Amino acid sequence: MARLGVNIDHVATIRQARRTIEPDPVWAAVLAELGGAHGITVHLREDRRHIQDRDLRVLKDTVQVKLNLEMAADEQVTQIALDLRPHQCTLVPEKREEITTEGGLDVVGQHDRVARCVDRLLAAGLEVSLFIDPDERQIEASKRLGAQSVELHTGRYADAVTADDRNLELQQIRAAGEVAVERGLHLHMGHGLTYRNVVPIARIPDVGELNIGHSIVARAVMVGFTQAVREMRELIEASG
Ligand code: PXP
Repeated sequence: MARLGVNIDHVATIRQARRTIEPDPVWAAVLAELGGAHGITVHLREDRRHIQDRDLRVLKDTVQVKLNLEMAADEQVTQIALDLRPHQCTLVPEKREEITTEGGLDVVGQHDRVARCVDRLLAAGLEVSLFIDPDERQIEASKRLGAQSVELHTGRYADAVTADDRNLELQQIRAAGEVAVERGLHLHMGHGLTYRNVVPIARIPDVGELNIGHSIVARAVMVGFTQAVREMRELIEASG
């Protein structure tokens, strides 16, 4: 069964809407663990639009499951990761103007920049995952850089309007997943996954980790955080 990483960024988004102290993403992490999360994921963005440096420090001290830090491949945040030492660093592309992470990291096109960051993290003994499109060239490049894992971007699958398009995207993700596993990479997936579309992704063989944020936080507003995480975990478990 795939492990569930709960992305709590959008709890911090609500807090930052008022620049206040609530809701606290640290509380959400505790409730997510109570609901059965296998990991807590946060993205420290350059513009600090949601997660703040203080959140990272407190999460590092309090999270009992895997702490996964999403980050851009840049100098400043790499230094923060080296100081924090999360269980896993997931490198993602980052543009100031985007609403959310659009598309995977271009490991082929930005090879040297990504390599510099990966080398520093690996040299410090940290686990590295690269968030990429389900594309064989990106997988090969990720493997060459020495990353232990890839997270395949499921956004196009999630956004597909027709059943045919959705199936095509699913096939592409499945095929890319096979390539990643053949190359000895751990296989993660995420982005745009919801209670409605997660099951076919969770059924893909060898998928070890699913990172899900927006849909869980949206449901948590209605039913509570622990319950929302529990429902997602049960769905994933039932599909395995
Ligand atoms: N995985 C990665 C690498 C992401 O950047 C994000 C969004 O922050 C997610 C998973 C979660 O996406 P969503 O919020 O759409 O579930």
